[in-house]
Amino acid sequence: MEYLKLNKSRHAVKHFDGSRIATVDVKQIISTAVLAPSAHNLQPWFFAIVDSNEKRQLLIDEVEQGNASQLEQAGAIIVVFSDTAISERSREIAQKMGSEMSPEMLQRYNKIYPERFSQYSPSYTSDYLALNAGIITMNLVLAINDMGYKSNIILGFHKTDHVNEALGVPLRYRPEIIITLGRSEEKGEPHLNLPADMMFKIV
Ligand SMILES: Cc1cc2nc3c(=O)[nH]c(=O)nc-3n(C[C@H](O)[C@H](O)[C@H](O)COP(=O)(O)O)c2cc1C
Repeated sequence: MEYLKLNKSRHAVKHFDGSRIATVDVKQIISTAVLAPSAHNLQPWFFAIVDSNEKRQLLIDEVEQGNASQLEQAGAIIVVFSDTAISERSREIAQKMGSEMSPEMLQRYNKIYPERFSQYSPSYTSDYLALNAGIITMNLVLAINDMGYKSNIILGFHKTDHVNEALGVPLRYRPEIIITLGRSEEKGEPHLNLPADMMFKIV
């Protein structure tokens, strides 16, 4: 689908018909979305595709009450996590992908980046991860739309270790966003766009 058309046709949809989306489609959506750019190409993401009813219920217990019905009705649920262990991730990338790297690149992932990341303050690391999570989230909802499904982005949940425990995801991954997707009669509405003078300045 052409980009502008894709963007204009994506709206938050908060009611789904309850029919399940095949995991193969969800995996396809994620494979497309991870073409997204990321800082240091670290791709610091981890996705939980919530398949079982039991895990879905445990996750529902972690969302704000107003969001629960979206999770109940969704055809599929993706929880986006960030990898908080960025130095380790960098070295792991070197280990896994080293054979495809130049010696300079290998040195960056093995040594230069981990040293740099170890200097980041907790709040800088947190911002770094949140920004990357936002980028992958946007790519996910566009990929979902392109596959013909509707979606919503949910920040209204308790972003604690309980989510990891409920889904069996290691604690090095931080929960960021829940994405609900599904089939729906609703198309969603174009949102109110703020005026340009609130958004930018030509300097
Ligand atoms: C970061 C973020 C957090 C959001 N959190 C929630 C949420 O917790 N519950 C909800 O119903 N919608 C949530 N939304 C959906 C917004 O309400 C919706 O995207 C917004 O009203 C704009 O509408 P649009 O998506 O149709 O453009 C969230 C959207 C974003 C981008």
